[in-house]
Amino acid sequence: MTPNAPTLSPDAGTGFDTVLVVDFGAQYAQVIARRVRELHVYSEIVPASTPFEELLARRPAGIILSGGPASVYADDAPAIDPRVFDAGVPVLGICYGQQLMAQALGGEVARTGTSEFGRTELAIREPGALLDGLGARQTVWMSHNDAVRAAPPGFRVTAATDDSPAAAFEAPERGLFGVQFHPEVSHTPRGLDVLASFLARTGARPTWTSHSVIEASVERIREQVGDATVLCGLSGGVDSAVAAALVEKAVGSQLTCVLVDHGLLREGEVADVQQAFGAHSDVRLITVDARERFLALLEGVEDPEEKRKRIGGEFIRVFEEAARTHASDAGFLVQGTLYPDVIESGEGHAAATIKSHHNVGGLPEDMDFDLVEPLRWLFKDEVRRVGEELGLPPELVWRQPFPGPGLAVRIIGEVTGQRLDLLRRADAIVRAELRRAGLEGPPRPRPDGQADPEHVWQAFAVLPAIRSVGVQGDERTYGHPVIVRAVTSEDAMTADFARIDWDVLERIATRVINGVPGINRVAYDITSKPPGTIEWE
Ligand code: XMP
Repeated sequence: MTPNAPTLSPDAGTGFDTVLVVDFGAQYAQVIARRVRELHVYSEIVPASTPFEELLARRPAGIILSGGPASVYADDAPAIDPRVFDAGVPVLGICYGQQLMAQALGGEVARTGTSEFGRTELAIREPGALLDGLGARQTVWMSHNDAVRAAPPGFRVTAATDDSPAAAFEAPERGLFGVQFHPEVSHTPRGLDVLASFLARTGARPTWTSHSVIEASVERIREQVGDATVLCGLSGGVDSAVAAALVEKAVGSQLTCVLVDHGLLREGEVADVQQAFGAHSDVRLITVDARERFLALLEGVEDPEEKRKRIGGEFIRVFEEAARTHASDAGFLVQGTLYPDVIESGEGHAAATIKSHHNVGGLPEDMDFDLVEPLRWLFKDEVRRVGEELGLPPELVWRQPFPGPGLAVRIIGEVTGQRLDLLRRADAIVRAELRRAGLEGPPRPRPDGQADPEHVWQAFAVLPAIRSVGVQGDERTYGHPVIVRAVTSEDAMTADFARIDWDVLERIATRVINGVPGINRVAYDITSKPPGTIEWE
């Protein structure tokens, strides 16, 4: 059994041309990969420690060296094998990646140049291959201390800023390009054009579309599963729904879906899922009522990681029982693991494990399923597009993400039936009010085609383990507060608190305090990620 074996590595035999992003600092690399995929070229992130031979063995159409926080002169600075610049594969260095390229090929990187952070004017001297079509000036996003002072011999400097004399350089005949600025962020308005120009030089075919992702996934799933029976857990979230729909498309009646009601779901969720799947597919759906079982398991448990481990472990066991009862020959279990989960869990990366997401890495060792993970190579926005392409209803596709351990990670301290009830009722009000204000659901389209920065990615209530004094009517109360958490995000890797209108927040507070006995205070969480996480546990 290989619980973490990739089920779709599209470059491995399915015909997607690949651009590898070498990761010198996780946040940058992911955004670059997402942008490349927006341009319909498959892109995968590899750690900076990947040996040169391994990089080439992937037969990439192009390689992008990401930005990163280090200085190329630091003792432990991550390096790149200089042979990568002579391998006949086009390379784009971004920020730290550009500095590595300059250093390796005989250019000069200033150790203590003036820093540039934020929006910066770029003066384009000659457009060259990379900056073609951008005119004489562009606004770009900078974030660096060191800077390239002199391009390597044979390179042409195509653009500069006040503090970066070689803000862009290139040797197109060698397929080598470098930029000091960040073309991947939305603060560089024409950044996508820069990436597109690089992709054009790689010759990578733009075949990464929802349609072809579905075709490749279906093929992979059929190959992996054969004629075995597959079990899929539905959680109410978009990931499990899209994963199930993909598997259904691949192996149809071999699929049985199970909805485990662990009592940690949101208000009305069980009924919603039953209705959505009943109405929109012919999947066989079984609902298991395990509420008592999970409550007993969580009795007295306060530690967040312990909660996650217990829930994750029990979840699989409930599945095994469901499998024995309803699909006795099920050999496979579908998991809605996403690419950011894989990266964030540190699999194949040096990055530290941040949380043991129960759908990655936290699986019990004695489980007896093989995993089908059709979303393992997809970012969340890609999952949604695949869901739409598969014809799932918009209310399901645009449902906000919900963690596997459910409301348990939004209750600080012990999870009891009574505390769950309080939180569930408050949470339903929070989401209803946001929906009413048009803040939940599909993002509103913007004329410039950019993502709506105000769109709420997730919004929910959290129940902390404290009480506070209040006054209602003429009476002193000593009740529970709830904390409202609402964030904007593109992929959950980073997030900002949503700038929700005061009036909406006021309505939430009033309705929660009036409508949920025991709650006498509402607070709003204004922490971004990092340094916070989206969930409280
Ligand atoms: P954090 O709290 O780490 O969450 O900023 C990032 C995103 O992941 C979701 N999340 C989970 N999803 N199982 C899941 O399937 C989990 O254990 C889990 N923990 C967090 C969270 O809701 C947010 O969207």
